Amino acid sequence: SLTNKYFDMDFQIIEKATQKHTLIIPLYTQELENNLGTILNQFGLPSSILQDFKGGIDETLIIYTSAQTLTEKIVLLGLGEHTKQDVLKNTIRLLINKQKEKVGQDIVLDLNYILKKDTKVGLLVEMCVNGALLATYNIAKFKKEDKPVQFPQTIAQVAIRKGEILANTQKRVFDLVNLPANHLNALQLAEFITESGKIHNFNVKILHLDEIKALGMGGLIAINQGSDIPPTFIIMEYKSESQITKKVGLVGKGVTFDTGGISIKPSEGMWQMKCDMAGAAAVIGAVEATARLQLPVHLIGIIPATDNMINGKAIYPGSIVKTYSGLTIEIEDTDAEGRVILADGLAYMKKNFEPDVMIDLATLTGACVIALGYQAAGLFTNNDNLANQLFSIGEQVGERVWRLPLWDEYEKQIKSDMADVKNLGGRPAGSITAAKFLEKFTDKHPAWAHLDIAGVAFTDNPYSTARSATAYGVRLLVEYLSQNV
Ligand code: BES
Ligand code: MN
Ligand code: ZN
Repeated sequence: SLTNKYFDMDFQIIEKATQKHTLIIPLYTQELENNLGTILNQFGLPSSILQDFKGGIDETLIIYTSAQTLTEKIVLLGLGEHTKQDVLKNTIRLLINKQKEKVGQDIVLDLNYILKKDTKVGLLVEMCVNGALLATYNIAKFKKEDKPVQFPQTIAQVAIRKGEILANTQKRVFDLVNLPANHLNALQLAEFITESGKIHNFNVKILHLDEIKALGMGGLIAINQGSDIPPTFIIMEYKSESQITKKVGLVGKGVTFDTGGISIKPSEGMWQMKCDMAGAAAVIGAVEATARLQLPVHLIGIIPATDNMINGKAIYPGSIVKTYSGLTIEIEDTDAEGRVILADGLAYMKKNFEPDVMIDLATLTGACVIALGYQAAGLFTNNDNLANQLFSIGEQVGERVWRLPLWDEYEKQIKSDMADVKNLGGRPAGSITAAKFLEKFTDKHPAWAHLDIAGVAFTDNPYSTARSATAYGVRLLVEYLSQNV
C-alpha cells in the first residue's frame, strides 16, 4: 500500500495504516467479482455493492464504513479492462482532482489487487505518485485569488522521487505552454532556461541576434524578421558525472506564437498558437528532469526560439534564405515556419555535438492532427530500432507515437527550382513532407527521429474548460533516457 497525505504531498510505502484515512482501491473489470468479494468481506459490507460498481474506466464508488476501523471511506476506482498500466495515472489524477473534498487528505492506495506476475512495480508506484501530484496543478495563474501551489517534499524512495520530479517538471512545462505569448517570448524563454540551469545544475548557453546572424542561421533569422522581439538560440547541456553510456541530442521547436506570418492564419482559434513552443517545452522538461534524476547520460537540448509575426520587415513568400548547413530554402509559405527554424537547430546539433541519437519535437503540422488526431504523435525515423523503442515506451507511459513513412518518393513534393529545398509540400501527406524537409538538415544521421506533436501537446482535457497543455514528451523522453542509455 501507498499513502498520500494529500495536502503536504508526503508519500510513504506502508504495510498497515496507523491513522484514519480514505482507502482507494483500483480494480480492473476482469477480476472484479473475486477481488470485490474479498474486500467487502473484510469490511463486513453487503455484496449488493457489486450491482453499483462495474470497474469501468474512471468509475468510482465511495463507501462509508462503520466506526470500528481506521478506514473511514473506501473509494473503489475502476480501471477498465486490464490492458495498459498507464490508465492508473489518469484515473487517480481525475479522482483526486475532481473529488478532493470527498477523498480527503489522508489517502491509502491499495495496489494489491492490481499486481500481476509481470507488473513493473516501480512504474506502477511512479504512475500513482505522478497522477496524484498532477491532480494539484492549478491552471488559474492569472486569477486574482490564485494561491500558490505547494511543491512536494522529497522522500527516499526511487519510484516516489521519480514520480514527484516528473510531476514537478510537467507542471513547469504546463506553465510554459499555457502562458500566453505576451508573457513568454523568445527572450523570456531563454531566461527561464538560464534560471533552470542554475537551479537544476546543467549548462546553458544563449546565442543572441548578432551571434545567430554571424553563425549564418538564416532560417531562424528569416522567420524572426517580422518580429519586434529578437530571436534566441538556446543550448542546454547536462553531462552525468558517472559512467556515461550515450550522448543524446534533443531539438525543440520554440515558436512562442505562430500568426502564420504573411501567409497569415485565420483568426478563429489562433490564440491556440501560443502552444507552438510545446516541442521546446518538452525538451526543457526532459533536460530538467534528467538533470534532477542524475541519469547517466550526456544530454544536449537545443531550441531555436522566435515568434512568427508580421510587420513591415516580415519575410515575403518566395524568399530564398541560406541556412546554417549551407543549404538554401525557398520559403513558399511563411506559415511553414517550424521546419525553417528547426533546419538550423538540427544542423547545429549534428555538426557541433555529433550525438549518438538525435530526436526533435515540434508542433509542426495540422496534417499530423488530421492523420492521427489527438491520440498519438507522428513518429518519423529511418532507424527501426529507435522506432520500436519509442513505440514501446510510448505505450508504457501513455504518450503514444505512431510511425509514418519517410520514403524518398515524397521528396519530389519539396523540390524547388531555385533553391535546395522549399518549405511547402502541398496538401498530400503534409506531415511526411515536413519530416522529409527536416531530414535534409540531419546530414544523414543514422539515429534521428522526428516527433510531430501538433495533435497531442495542447488538447481538450478534464482539467480545464478550453484546451490546455499536456506536457507530452516529458515522460516519453525521460523514460527513453532511463531505459535505453
Ligand atoms: N504550428 C503550426 C502547426 C500546428 C497546427 C500546430 C495545429 C498545432 C496545432 C505550423 O507552423 C503550421 O502552421 N503548419 C502549417 C503548414 C503548412 C503551411 C504547410 C499547417 O499545418 O497548416
Ligand atoms: Mn505555422
Ligand atoms: Zn508553427
